[in-house]
Amino acid sequence: MSQPPAGDPGQFSPDYLAPPQPRRGFFTQAAAVVVGAVAGLVPLAVGLATFINPLRRSVRSKQRPSGSDAQGFYKVTTLDALSAIPQAFKIIADRKDAWNTFPKDAIGTVYLSRLENGDVLAFNVTCPHAGCAVDWRAAKNAYHCPCHNSAFAPDGVRDPKSPSARDLDSLEVKFENGAVLVKYQDFKSGEKGKHPT
Ligand code: FES
Repeated sequence: MSQPPAGDPGQFSPDYLAPPQPRRGFFTQAAAVVVGAVAGLVPLAVGLATFINPLRRSVRSKQRPSGSDAQGFYKVTTLDALSAIPQAFKIIADRKDAWNTFPKDAIGTVYLSRLENGDVLAFNVTCPHAGCAVDWRAAKNAYHCPCHNSAFAPDGVRDPKSPSARDLDSLEVKFENGAVLVKYQDFKSGEKGKHPT
């Protein structure tokens, strides 16, 4: 049996007085590592899912914009409010990005005018040349783009001298109980063809 060394008993911790420590076996330690790893990964996975989910939601929300009906028509104004002189109207909808919602925000602008036969013309204000906004110039009875001087007749047909390769982008219109609804869409600029973005 070992004996304590001589000297100050308060200056050392004799090993023989410590309780015997059980030795962990290899499998016990391995299991502890696995359990620890899983416990750490679960919150990480939950956090990642929470981060990604708004992105998935925003992709879904683009399929059917808030504020429009199932076909993508937005209520813009009433038929009575329209005349032969084109007027600009904002398209109001709840806009969303990946993480934020912007309620009742302007997502675009259209020009509306009423023909003698009761039909309504609707144009996206975005110039098909390079994306500036066109103005209605009553003095010239034409739409005009201030960026590179494209001009368009009241029916949207381009002036042949315009740099724009196509007419103004017309939009579908329908009526419900005196209200005018427009299927708002944006189209790629700089192309001869009219292709939705
Ligand atoms: S953007 Fe309109 S003419 Fe160029």
